[in-house]
Amino acid sequence: MDGNGRWAKARGLPRIKGHEAGAQAVRECVEGCGELKVEYLTLYAFSAENWQRPKGEILSLMRLLEKFLKEKTPELIEKNVRLQAIGRLTDLPESSQEQLHKTIEQTAGNNGLTLILALSYGGRLEIIDGIKSLLRAIELGHIDKGMIDVEMFSKHLYTRYYPDPDLLIRTSGEMRLSNFLLWQMSYTELYVTPKLWPDFTKKDLFAAVEEYGRRQRRYGGVE
Ligand code: FPP
Repeated sequence: MDGNGRWAKARGLPRIKGHEAGAQAVRECVEGCGELKVEYLTLYAFSAENWQRPKGEILSLMRLLEKFLKEKTPELIEKNVRLQAIGRLTDLPESSQEQLHKTIEQTAGNNGLTLILALSYGGRLEIIDGIKSLLRAIELGHIDKGMIDVEMFSKHLYTRYYPDPDLLIRTSGEMRLSNFLLWQMSYTELYVTPKLWPDFTKKDLFAAVEEYGRRQRRYGGVE
C-alpha cells in the first residue's frame, strides 16, 4: 500500500494524514474484493523494515491500525470477512496485538473474503522462521530431512493455510517486491499502477483484476 507519504506531502499534510487516507482505501478495496468474490486479500500494512521509521510515525500507525480494527470489526462481520495476520506479530505493541487477536477471534467463523494483514512482516525473516520450524520438526523426529520439498517447506511458512497469490498489485509506480511474500510470489502476476495508495479506488481494483484476466499463466511450461 505504497504512496501514503507522497500523497500527504503533495497536500502539505503530515504523513499520518496519508496513512489515514490509506485506511479509507483499505475499506474500499476490501469491499471491492468482496464484490469480485476474491477469496484471499493480503495487505502489506507494516514491514519488518518499517520499524526504522520515526517513533512518532510508528506509534501513529499502530494507533490507526487499532482504531481501524476496533471500528471496522462489526462491518467485517456483516460483510462475512475473516481477518487473519502474518508476520512477527509479537513485535507489535501489546494493545495492537490484543485488538488484532480480538478481531481475528470475532471474525473466525466468517467464510467470505479472508483478509490477511502483513504486520512486522518480512519475506526473508519468514523464510528464516520457516527453516527454524523445519529444523525443530526434524529434531523432534516429526519429519526426516529427506522428506523436505517445496510443498513441505510451504507448510512451515506464516502463509501455510493460504494459497500462493495470483496477483500482486503495487501502487505508486515502484517496480520492486520490497521483501513481500518472496517464496509465495514465484508465479504471481505483477501489476504496477502509478496511483498512490490513498487514490486507489474500487475502479482501479477492477481494472487490475481485468488485466489479470488477460494474462496467460504458464508456470514455466508451454501452452
Ligand atoms: C507505505 O506508504 C504505507 C505504510 C507503511 C503503511 C500502510 C498503512 C495503512 C494504509 C493504514 C493502516 C492499515 C490498515 C490495514 C488499516 P509510505 O508511507 O511508504 O508512502 P511513501 O512511499 O509515499 O512515503
